[in-house]
Amino acid sequence: MTTTTTGRSAVRGAVGTPHTRIEGRDKVTGAARYSGEVPFAELAHGWLALSTVARGRVRSVATEPVLAMPGVLAVLHHGNAPRLHTDYVGMLGTPPDPTATVFQHDRVPHAGWPVALVVAETPEQAREAAEALEVTYDEEPHDTVLRADGPGEGDAADTEEKGDLAARLADSATVVDEVYTTPEEHHSMMEPHAATARWDGGRLDVTDSNQGVGWVRGELATLFSLDESAVRVRSEHIGGGFGSKGLRAHQVAAVMAATQLHRPVRVVMTRRQMFSLAGYRSPTTQRVRLGAGVDGRLLALEHRSLSQTATGYEFTEACAAFARVMYDADAHRTANASVPLDVPSPTWMRAPGEAPGSFALESALDELAERTGIDPVELRLRNDPETGPVSGLPFSSRNLAACFREGARRFGWADRDPRPGVRREGRWLLGTGTAAASYGAGAGPSTALVTAEADGAFTVRIAAADLGTGARTALTLVAADALEVPTERVRVRIGDSDFGPAWIAGGSMGTRSWAWAINAAAAELRERLALGTTVPPEGITVRSDTTEALAALAKKERHAFGAQFAEVAVDTATGEVRVRRMLGIFAAGRIVNPLTARNQLVGGMTWGLSMALHEEAVRDHASGGHYGPDLAGYHVATHADVPDVEADWVADPDPDDPVGIKGVGEIGIVGAAAAVANAVWHATGVRQRHLPIRPDRVLTAGTGPAVRGAADA
Ligand code: MOS
Repeated sequence: MTTTTTGRSAVRGAVGTPHTRIEGRDKVTGAARYSGEVPFAELAHGWLALSTVARGRVRSVATEPVLAMPGVLAVLHHGNAPRLHTDYVGMLGTPPDPTATVFQHDRVPHAGWPVALVVAETPEQAREAAEALEVTYDEEPHDTVLRADGPGEGDAADTEEKGDLAARLADSATVVDEVYTTPEEHHSMMEPHAATARWDGGRLDVTDSNQGVGWVRGELATLFSLDESAVRVRSEHIGGGFGSKGLRAHQVAAVMAATQLHRPVRVVMTRRQMFSLAGYRSPTTQRVRLGAGVDGRLLALEHRSLSQTATGYEFTEACAAFARVMYDADAHRTANASVPLDVPSPTWMRAPGEAPGSFALESALDELAERTGIDPVELRLRNDPETGPVSGLPFSSRNLAACFREGARRFGWADRDPRPGVRREGRWLLGTGTAAASYGAGAGPSTALVTAEADGAFTVRIAAADLGTGARTALTLVAADALEVPTERVRVRIGDSDFGPAWIAGGSMGTRSWAWAINAAAAELRERLALGTTVPPEGITVRSDTTEALAALAKKERHAFGAQFAEVAVDTATGEVRVRRMLGIFAAGRIVNPLTARNQLVGGMTWGLSMALHEEAVRDHASGGHYGPDLAGYHVATHADVPDVEADWVADPDPDDPVGIKGVGEIGIVGAAAAVANAVWHATGVRQRHLPIRPDRVLTAGTGPAVRGAADA
């Protein structure tokens, strides 16, 4: 909708209109600098040396020979590094990851643990010296095996329960009881972590690639016992984050070295180092039990998830939380547990919990559809709850049924023959599958500064992060509408902690949280200008803070939803699975910029395809490290794997958000792997309950009775 207002001759309607990325030209011409390439005078380069053992103690670090190597300036390790203040809980409610708070003791809790930083004049010198650094260890036996025999009945950190599960399972006409597993997965964003630290006029100045400059500033200030005002963190352009770009070893090591050397020091992670330093998604083992009546309505639902964590850091992949939003049942039990192992710390990775959780639950729903003979879309519609299954709270909006109806129509679902293994095209067996998606729609407190400049332009300052998502552009559209001016008159500056506290680019909450603050400041500024105030040379600045507005929000179930559809072809001779097309229809709030929002959703779905078929970090349990920790060994979907992915949405403005936003960062991956796996079953007649669906798994599984029968005939 476009409204032209009178008086200020402004055009509204930037929100909802496609807009290319404001910094797009800078990015494709190379003018945009990423944190590892911002120039500094006197820059020194640090290279992390990582442990080669999975558990034990550092016995010695042979610094002398390395210090004699060309260009080497310093070697930092547990014996000489400054002590950090690590006993705190940060902005996101977690203590710092010990893998990030480097060189505090001689213990080695996992392979690839940072044991030293070698600093030299050039990156090549630092690398050569770090690789030559001799570190000896007192090695201890390690355990890196997440035992896959299913979650036990033991203590889960996080359990929700209602009703009598055993009784309702016994009452059920149909029961599904299966175990699903997902492997260790890595963020693998294009731009590795990189930070440069330096002291500038008594302030610590860090140029970094992260998901929240205020977040990282707070962590660094606490670790180094500095006042927050004495720390500035900037992050202008970011080549992906996906949950991995918070406080990490590179920033902490760079600050230590810059402090010691009185020079700017840059530390960049290599792709291989990221496999132990950057966090990852834990492997999961999930048991799902569903019991339904003859009408397909769920009487019993149990979803238990087991993941791994590090010995010194608790992080639980909350897969079963997905079930608390999706489906109700008289008896409903969900539990998330993790076991500590001698492995690096897992962390948030795009749709943490929901991505692997939806694979298990939405696969199980498909198995229930198969066993009850009810169409998978119809089964989900019959089990679409009125209120939060566990909370009992109303949904702010749900619209999952609208997603399924629109998706089914566009995908051609009505023509689907439900029988598995009956569509053959040459050597390919064909199948289609569907799955539901949801992801939380939250907002975090933020402040924004909006300035009316004397020349008629407007400057917005907010400590937001654009991970490559188009957040900067989305915020420009929001600001333009709020100020009732064309986008050309608005300049949005982000990625600087000096702009004040703001939420992170995480939890799919970034754009929504920042837009809320910008909207509030812009509205107030517009009121002031409406009084006919003359703008002085320094401009007029209004600051907003959304803390109170967010605290006043009514308690509701707030989520985005979606319906995923996939068509696959399976070659049963080679085991190859090709995804032919995917369609996702989402209810994800008001869409600010259709161009970049579609890109987010398609990106998430592509990752779901990749999760279904390719991604798997394989740990060598003998050494405790990985086989092939790089992008040759860790497969991600590439262009040739991704033929036709389409994303669209239904109208779903959030009723409680000033702009109607929910967030599109993570929902795209949710359910996508299940849709592919369900399509593989429909093609072959055999369930694939373990990701990724590798050729060897397809070959080992063979084909179901229907296909074998057809072949025999
Ligand atoms: Mo996302 S895993 O909240 O960066």
